[in-house]
Amino acid sequence: MIRIAIVGTGGMAHAHANAFLNLKGCTLVAGVDIQEENLNNYCDKFEIRNRFTDVKELVKWGEFDAAVVATIDSAHVPCALPLVKAGKHVLCEKPIAPTAPEGKRLVTAAEKAGVINMINFSYRNNPVLHHAQQLVASGKLGRLMHLEAHYLQTWLTSPVWGVWQETPAWLWRLSTDHGSKGALGDIGVHIVDLTTYVANERVKSLSCKLKTFNKAPGNKIGEYNLDANDTALMQVELAGGGIGTINTTRWATGQTNSLKLALYGETGALKIDLDTSGEELEVCLGPDLKKAKFKTVKARKTPNMQQRFLKSIKTGVNDPSDFRRGWEVQRVLDACFKSDESKKSVTLRA
Ligand SMILES: NC(=O)c1ccc[n+]([C@@H]2O[C@H](COP(=O)([O-])OP(=O)(O)OC[C@H]3O[C@@H](n4cnc5c(N)ncnc54)[C@H](O)[C@@H]3O)[C@@H](O)[C@H]2O)c1
Repeated sequence: MIRIAIVGTGGMAHAHANAFLNLKGCTLVAGVDIQEENLNNYCDKFEIRNRFTDVKELVKWGEFDAAVVATIDSAHVPCALPLVKAGKHVLCEKPIAPTAPEGKRLVTAAEKAGVINMINFSYRNNPVLHHAQQLVASGKLGRLMHLEAHYLQTWLTSPVWGVWQETPAWLWRLSTDHGSKGALGDIGVHIVDLTTYVANERVKSLSCKLKTFNKAPGNKIGEYNLDANDTALMQVELAGGGIGTINTTRWATGQTNSLKLALYGETGALKIDLDTSGEELEVCLGPDLKKAKFKTVKARKTPNMQQRFLKSIKTGVNDPSDFRRGWEVQRVLDACFKSDESKKSVTLRA
């Protein structure tokens, strides 16, 4: 039985608990949150007995094998570091850290400790991604020439996930003082991971424009300065030379949570639309190329991130969605900030 502690007991921690409780071979043994009300509500709901208000107390107690870090972004490294140093396996929420150098500290510590380390790139729960990734890896699309990807949300214009002006879970995401890197750090991280994972290529260079709109009097609500970016527009070049755009925003009125990716190669193309399906993709291959027609293809079922975390712990073989991968994606985001500030294209070292 793998004993799991949950660190940070807000919205996302509920998704983790529900997922783990559906699986055999694991049990939730402890919760940690700096806010006692969140902690107690959560632990009562999921019948967790051991409760701590500081991750250091959890480490001192020690009666667990693995932990999920689902705190606000800026607390990922401070919470995950003592856990990996204590030899605990960690599934950490994205982004690994507000910046790549901070994330690198965690990569080094986890690799040195030899523990299983994963970043919850949760869109990898969709089987369609793995099917598409294998299709590209098989060479059927040929040289990738062009790509279009976006991740669009609407919560600044539609209260579908609650009224953001009154909800701490949305307000911290709008404030750099609270460790947020804006839409780019929150959801751009997913679309950069998704795109480069499916393409099997890293970003070689990029230029990026970020935009923050005024959203309240003085652009401030209570303790929250609303200064984090709302929108990021990237032009990227992949290592293989293909180019394209990756865009993300919270101002996509009417689009609750829209992720799309299209990859166009010399001998084939594929389109993923997670709004429509996480199991079906559109492909244009072989004879369909001449007719310029796309066909629908169904992907085989794949395990979710929590299943993959447990499997990694049992087998000792780390899942590819590891801290190092989280750091590599973060390097792309750091380059976006650099490009926006300098108004120049930025080249990333291999
Ligand atoms: N992978 C995904 O698809 C996905 C989706 C949503 C959120 N997230 C990520 O999950 C994390 C949590 O997001 P959320 O929406 O649940 O936020 P939230 O605001 O609902 O919850 C965060 C919780 O962390 C607690 N916390 C803050 N600092 C802490 C610390 N030092 N120690 C212990 N607890 C601490 C807060 O008190 C709060 O209860 C974020 O990093 C977010 O980016 C990932």
